[in-house]
Amino acid sequence: MSKIGDHLEKIYSLDGKIIILTGAAGGIGRELAFGMAGAGGTIALCDINLKAAQQLESEIAAEGGKAVAFELNVMDKASIKACVDAIVERFGKIDVLINCAGINKREGILDVEESTYDRIMGINLKGVFMMSQEVGKQMFKQKSGNVINIGSHNDEDMLGGCSVYGATKSGVVALTRSMAVEWAQYGIRANAISPGHILTPLSAVTWEHPTRSVWLRERIAMRRPGKPKELVGMCIMLASDASSYMTGQAYHIDGGCLVGGSPWDFDTKYKA
Ligand SMILES: NC(=O)c1ccc[n+]([C@@H]2O[C@H](COP(=O)([O-])OP(=O)(O)OC[C@H]3O[C@@H](n4cnc5c(N)ncnc54)[C@H](O)[C@@H]3O)[C@@H](O)[C@H]2O)c1
Repeated sequence: MSKIGDHLEKIYSLDGKIIILTGAAGGIGRELAFGMAGAGGTIALCDINLKAAQQLESEIAAEGGKAVAFELNVMDKASIKACVDAIVERFGKIDVLINCAGINKREGILDVEESTYDRIMGINLKGVFMMSQEVGKQMFKQKSGNVINIGSHNDEDMLGGCSVYGATKSGVVALTRSMAVEWAQYGIRANAISPGHILTPLSAVTWEHPTRSVWLRERIAMRRPGKPKELVGMCIMLASDASSYMTGQAYHIDGGCLVGGSPWDFDTKYKA
């Protein structure tokens, strides 16, 4: 391989890295798991749906990757502790934590039941806090570590019917910044990836909706939903040593949504 190729492979490689991925069996989690295993990482596939995580483990193994499934409920402190202990016992260390588990229920502020509020907050925000705290204790012992939280376009821009979800994702970015500030002294970095409108089972209802999908396309400069695969590059970069001086930021991968979406009709000789 060329010298440039060698260098890139070295700084972006996840070889030898033990990576915890929550929500691993979901639409985005699966792609991140495949992508990071392909870059040499060993992935702890953590999900409340153990069967789906085990199925993913077999699929990754069939492609020559390294991954092991673990059961995890991020709403349950005992489950978090048992899962993190089992991973440390098995691998001896944790290099990267990716908090990807998340849920949403689209309904108006006036309609949200307290139980719905508690569940979305419990998984998306408290779950990220508790999981990071438990893993952070291990990373503190190691004096090294790296946290990647999955935010959302909705951490900046609000959408109707997503009040609780938007609040959790804004909170996730705030937490990411706090982790970066407090934990740099322990050798731990923290960043967020904020996906725009990505087509997965979580968002399929919106993309199939007759009016909401039209509205969405107008708000994306690239006029299409993202694919989960399109988040993999940033994830590998943040998990690898290529990003060794990057901490405390949220990176939006959104096809040009936050910048303003597709333009209104303007005068130009250059018709697309
Ligand atoms: N799909 C999008 O357009 C989009 C956009 C922005 C951000 N996100 C975020 O990306 C992340 C993944 O979304 P997705 O589209 O893959 O969703 P998904 O529903 O496909 O996957 C979520 C995964 O989390 C797991 N999970 C749910 N509750 C859990 C719990 N208590 N403990 C452990 N695991 C649990 C589920 O079993 C599932 O495997 C979420 O944090 C979501 O908010 C998604």
